[in-house]
Amino acid sequence: MRLLITGLNGFVAGSIVAQARKTWEVHGVDITEAMGLPTNVHGHQLDLMDKDKVAALFHQISPNAVIHTAAMANIDVCENNKELAWKVNVEITETITGLCQTKGIKMIVCSTDTVFDGEKGHYSETDLPAAVNHYAKTKIEAERIVLAASSKNVVARLSLVMGMPVMGKGNSFLAETIERLKRGEKVKFPENEIRTPIDVVTLGAALTELAGNDFGGIIHLSGNTRINRYEMAIHIAKTLGYDAGLVEGTNSNALAGRAPRPNDASMENGLAKSILKTPMLTLDEGLNLTLNFKLEEN
Ligand SMILES: NC(=O)c1ccc[n+]([C@@H]2O[C@H](COP(=O)([O-])OP(=O)(O)OC[C@H]3O[C@@H](n4cnc5c(N)ncnc54)[C@H](OP(=O)(O)O)[C@@H]3O)[C@@H](O)[C@H]2O)c1
Repeated sequence: MRLLITGLNGFVAGSIVAQARKTWEVHGVDITEAMGLPTNVHGHQLDLMDKDKVAALFHQISPNAVIHTAAMANIDVCENNKELAWKVNVEITETITGLCQTKGIKMIVCSTDTVFDGEKGHYSETDLPAAVNHYAKTKIEAERIVLAASSKNVVARLSLVMGMPVMGKGNSFLAETIERLKRGEKVKFPENEIRTPIDVVTLGAALTELAGNDFGGIIHLSGNTRINRYEMAIHIAKTLGYDAGLVEGTNSNALAGRAPRPNDASMENGLAKSILKTPMLTLDEGLNLTLNFKLEEN
């Protein structure tokens, strides 16, 4: 069984590859060439905006399932490049959804907790999204496209992803924070953003499981700990033995020139707990798992 993962060099995809290669023939695609792939993982380099090349890749690999992680995932970059963000987050999703639909295969798209406006918190799968920024608008439209195409398809809404990069470059706030704390530098985290962070290892396992099971629809993949990002950073600093006094609180919605963020985008994970074998973890459990995870031992 062949699994195609888009955004191969990204933070989330690296963890999916580590889990999926145990049970799938794994193919990954990214705009830049993948370096240092495990021997049984096949890398393909192309721009997913090139529809003909994407179709040819599908023909060549003939995947049995697709996990679509590739995206323009930086909220401020999306806000400042609205047209490009729509092309990357919506039009690429449309292309891939169409190919999956034609071949009758399951597609999982990675969406986000920030599709919610953050007024309520504790969001479940039946709550309605409401965008507060352009990134969220693109993700809501991508969700609609994927769900409309097939009842097999999955919209996986990810909470803030916490962890060390398993492979590739990995845009990890944890790795960056640890490096800065080690150097004795100040780190700033927003107090207004309440999240339910999920560790990247659990996330890779959950997405791999979703590729191989019968679930279709929306699912929230989030951790068991609801916490604001400032308190989370203090907790991490203390747990790892760094100076928690280096962590400063901010309000991300009071900073000039930045796109609005939802305040409380915490998500309930009852559905994930009931249908997945992969356990959802607390912040401490997830931290422990990601800090001790070694690709070569898995
Ligand atoms: N990380 C989080 O905390 C988080 C939270 C909620 C939801 N999500 C969602 O989860 C998914 C994965 O996030 P991530 O943090 O792993 O993102 P990431 O590290 O930025 O990975 C995305 C990958 O997709 C690639 N890509 C972008 N445009 C492409 C194109 N036209 N053709 C081929 N490849 C392209 C990127 O390459 P370049 O870097 O070279 O552009 C990058 O390697 C995204 O859909 C994101 O919206 C992430």
